[in-house]
This record gives sequence, structure tokens and C-alpha cells, in this order.
Amino acid sequence: MIEKLFTQNKLWADARTAERPDYFERLSELQRPEYLWIGCSDSRVPANVIAGLEPGEVFVHRNVANLIHPTDLNMLSVLEYAVHQLEVKHIIVCGHYGCGGIRAAVSGDSYGLIDHWLQPIRDVADTSFECRDCGAWSERDLDEPCEASIIDQVTRLARTPTLQAAWKQGKAVSIHGWAYGLKDGLLSNLGCSIER
Ligand code: CO
Repeated sequence: MIEKLFTQNKLWADARTAERPDYFERLSELQRPEYLWIGCSDSRVPANVIAGLEPGEVFVHRNVANLIHPTDLNMLSVLEYAVHQLEVKHIIVCGHYGCGGIRAAVSGDSYGLIDHWLQPIRDVADTSFECRDCGAWSERDLDEPCEASIIDQVTRLARTPTLQAAWKQGKAVSIHGWAYGLKDGLLSNLGCSIER
């Protein structure tokens, strides 16, 4: 079954070069994406596909529930490279409604290691919302903590030394918080952008 991925890959590569013979040659020389996307690992939220972007147009970091942990070396390395080497213009923290990470964080149940990872969501939920039993949350109830967490991650991102340094140097990089709807495929801007 996994073999079909190679078949599909060949079809995709052939279609690209049929459209434009130098497609891969051009792409292999340089990447100049204008966007850094920090999103959820959820398989239903692929950055390039939902934003209609081609290879080379967006630098991507994904983790469970699109969280900004100030000691996450993986995220920080991606951020540092995107801001100071690629010089992206926009950083988008994109969460999504119906996120399992949000549900797990506010459920009050224990899931092991992931509980530590999801702590920032719980912190936001604890101060902004009444805690309830897992069964008491409907999908709609989760929209509010979902949006609150995205806005919180934008603030946490703004506080990183990487972005503080970039803004001090006068770099034109702004950060944004967006939410994606699994049910309608649409992105919405949560209006929490920070430019400096
Ligand atoms: Co998710």
C-alpha cells in the first residue's frame, strides 16, 4: 500500500515539469518564502494546501496544538532561521477549531506526557473559562479556549528573544493569529497581529 506514494509522487513531479520544464531546477536553487507557518500537526490542516501556496512559498513548523514553548529548541531553531536568514515578512500561528489538543487540555483527564506539553492551554483556560468535566464540553464550547490559546501563542511568540531582536534591528516582520475551520475549510483572522 505504501508503494502507491511513490507512484503518486512520480505523477506529481511529472505534472509539475510538464507545466514548467525548469520547475524543480528553479526551486532547488533558492527558497525565498515570505511566510512562516506555525500550525497544528493535525493531518487535516496542511499549511500549503489550505493557504493555496506552492513549494517554496511557506516555511513550516507544526506541533500538537500549535504551541509556543519558550524552551522548545525545535521551534526556536525554525523561528531563528526564518526570521534572520530567510527574512520572512509574516509569521502565522494557525490553530483550528475541533483541535484534539485543546479538548485534551481542558478535559480534566490525564493523558501522560502530553499533559505537560498542553499546559499553556490549561493556563489560559483556567484564567479565562470555567473548568468543566470533559463530557460537559461541546465542540462549540471549545471554540473560545481554542481562539484564546492562539492569541496567547502570538503573545508568547512576540516575547521570544528572536523576535525582540528582529524588531530592535528594524526588521519588518509581523505575527498573526488565525483559526482554521475543519467544517468549512476557511481561515479566519483573530485580529491579534503584532508588528513591533
Ligand atoms: Co489540532
